[in-house]
Amino acid sequence: MPGDKSISHRAVMFGAIAEGTTTIEGLLEGEDVLSTAAAMRAMGASVSKDGNRWVVTGVGTKGLQQPASVLDLGNSGTSARLITGIIAGFPINATMTGDASLTKRPMKRVMDPLGQMGAKFESQDGGRMPMVVHGGALHAIDYAMPVASAQVKSAILLAGLRADGTTVVHEPKPSRDHTERMLQAFGATCVTQGLSVSIKGGQKLTAPANTVVVPGDPSSAAFAVVAALLIEGSDIVVENVGMNPTRTGLFETLRDMGGDITFINERTIGGEPVADLRVRASKLKGVTVPEDRAPSMIDEFPVLFVAAACATGETFADGLDELRVKESDRLKTMADNLTACGVKLEEGPMSLRIFGNGTPPEGGATVATHLDHRIAMAHLVLGAVTAQPVTVDDAAAIATSFPAFVTLMNQLGMDIA
Ligand code: S3P
Repeated sequence: MPGDKSISHRAVMFGAIAEGTTTIEGLLEGEDVLSTAAAMRAMGASVSKDGNRWVVTGVGTKGLQQPASVLDLGNSGTSARLITGIIAGFPINATMTGDASLTKRPMKRVMDPLGQMGAKFESQDGGRMPMVVHGGALHAIDYAMPVASAQVKSAILLAGLRADGTTVVHEPKPSRDHTERMLQAFGATCVTQGLSVSIKGGQKLTAPANTVVVPGDPSSAAFAVVAALLIEGSDIVVENVGMNPTRTGLFETLRDMGGDITFINERTIGGEPVADLRVRASKLKGVTVPEDRAPSMIDEFPVLFVAAACATGETFADGLDELRVKESDRLKTMADNLTACGVKLEEGPMSLRIFGNGTPPEGGATVATHLDHRIAMAHLVLGAVTAQPVTVDDAAAIATSFPAFVTLMNQLGMDIA
């Protein structure tokens, strides 16, 4: 599996502000991570590839420089939110923008807490990009996050690193904790107590002596795993899959559905649990997804809905309001597209109920991906089992997170043209 996108972003960002040179192995070379690299370069860090490794020399005590031009973060919400948190703590101004998907996504969720810390913003109506961030001296806050979001939590912690005092964030539900883990690897202390994380300001990041190794991305593995469960006769091993418990909700749900998935060769890589997944084709049954599991599979609902469309019985998932503000409105996009492929379902304001009858739907539709990589990949997996092929209108977004997707899936026996 290609490197984890969340961890890759953080390795480049942290390396870029640290003192010293960070070496990274297994970095995801997807467009989103390259957007992060370009932004950090524009503010004075050196980020380059050396053979199989990436080398990042940070600005350290010199601090980030004022970027000479607009930072274009493409399709990447993680770059936009985390880099805003980083810039907030430096005495620079930056204009940030993105593509037609990213400029529709909410930035107010980071502007509010960072504004309370002392950063200033100019943005489009409703808190969208293009936006100008005015960073500077920050003070610590104690902040209860209204949504479970690792991006918001991370933006606040990164600003908190440079604030006066100790910043505390409280989450409504646990979100991915890669920032907290990687801060430790760069020599900073942050303390997690239940759903609260605190960080003392004034700490410096130092490039780790050892190479930062990025484990494979469970959110990319999800597509191969679901394809193997659905396609008769499949028996595959997906190697090098990140098993951080804040990311494995999909695998738990698929097992609840009767999916034959075993975790083998469990190990720790770069401070993150990793395993290989053996997956065999299985007859799946519908389930109700526990609402509190949503954050640990937040990016995996599109491909879960594909599995549910082929399962026997009803699958129901609720509490999915965050899906409406991803790269596309994933609730509406999946509901429209699966309906076009012949799936019976009911879309609620925050929920989706899918009625499976144990056979894959008819397919045959051309579906709209709305610049959303996971919508494109989920439907290509669906097309492997439908009676008629499924066509996606635009596959370009796949390169944001999984450039090798088509090659890899075709090597496994799929037929994506
Ligand atoms: C991410 C956090 C999640 C996730 C995104 C990556 C991260 O977003 O959907 O793909 O790397 O922190 P939210 O923080 O908006 O839930």
